Amino acid sequence: MTATKGPALRELTPPQRFQRLAPQAGLDDDDRQALESGGLDIETADRMIENVIGLMSLPLGVAVHLTVNGRERLVPLAIEEASVVAGLSHAGKLLTAGGGIDSVATESLMIGQVQLVDVPDFERAIRAINDARAALVHTCDGADRILVGLGGGVRELEVRRLDPAGADDPVGPMLIVHLIADVRDAMGANAVNTMAECLAPELERLSGGHARLRILSNLADRRTVTARGRVPFAALAHGGFAGADVARGIQEASVFAERDPYRAATHNKGIMNGVDGLLLATGQDWRAVEAGAHAYAARSGRYGPLSRWRVGDDQLTGELTMPMAVGVVGGAVTKHRGARVALKLLGVETAHDLAEIAGAVGLAQNLAALRALAAEGIQAGHMRLHQRKG
Ligand code: MEV
Repeated sequence: MTATKGPALRELTPPQRFQRLAPQAGLDDDDRQALESGGLDIETADRMIENVIGLMSLPLGVAVHLTVNGRERLVPLAIEEASVVAGLSHAGKLLTAGGGIDSVATESLMIGQVQLVDVPDFERAIRAINDARAALVHTCDGADRILVGLGGGVRELEVRRLDPAGADDPVGPMLIVHLIADVRDAMGANAVNTMAECLAPELERLSGGHARLRILSNLADRRTVTARGRVPFAALAHGGFAGADVARGIQEASVFAERDPYRAATHNKGIMNGVDGLLLATGQDWRAVEAGAHAYAARSGRYGPLSRWRVGDDQLTGELTMPMAVGVVGGAVTKHRGARVALKLLGVETAHDLAEIAGAVGLAQNLAALRALAAEGIQAGHMRLHQRKG
């Protein structure tokens, strides 16, 4: 029996739901215990952060009906807000009626930054760094032989000059070196930070300046996911309202967010409801993905939506692109038993796969919110029309 056969999951108790989903996801009794106990014990927690005095639990729900790249997924979400899990399942159904979500993640390229100040001659420094590119890449890769062994490592170096923003800017020009590394199945913060630290002395020598910050950038715009989906008008019909009208309402909501940062922030919050729920469930650094999402949303200089929806001849189409720095090795994923069970439920073994599902979840969650809001708007408009007629 699969998740979608038999009585609806909402009609079952939590243990019955586990019994239903366990065979499909290959979960055993240990996994059940891990889920019921929140997946973390106090001793493990005490090794993760400082001054631990307890644990903090959230409900873990499973969204169903989400088809991503031709495969139906069970999506665990850790979230305190009602309606998010049900909304995602419903939107998954709508998008499945349109053939499922296509989601494509780029390579796992993360950016590390080294800040150089007090550089005496910028042109000379830039030339010296560019000329030493091959040796610098070799130095970075030497900092993480395991990553290189797995096919990862530094792919590019970029040099940027940042000039003072105005007359009252207290700091002179600075030189920023970006190292762009393929971090494979890791989120990559540790690997990239180590590489940036390793590179700094050599960059100081080549530039004649002083290295200050050496740290990952959370604007992971070289590591993005793009999810696309369609919903036939027929599937959008709701409470006596034509699917084409609901589709038009969703397009109007999308364009509202495209024109207005006040609305775009809320539009993106709806996307992050699903994305963060999945990231929390799977032990990811969700603050990193949040920071990257909002910086990416403002990359044109004006904050905008991460997704857009358009009405076609007989269907609504949606597309979302956002940075997605996730990993399935290292960090909390390795330590947190519940996070490992969540990944098992999801059927995910690579960071690439997790990123593609997270993008699909973002798109579907956004559809769930916009459909509800648009349909409510149509409903309210309809009621007013009736009142006026009466
Ligand atoms: C609430 O958590 C999220 C929504 O506000 C998103 C949206 O307005 O698109 C419903």
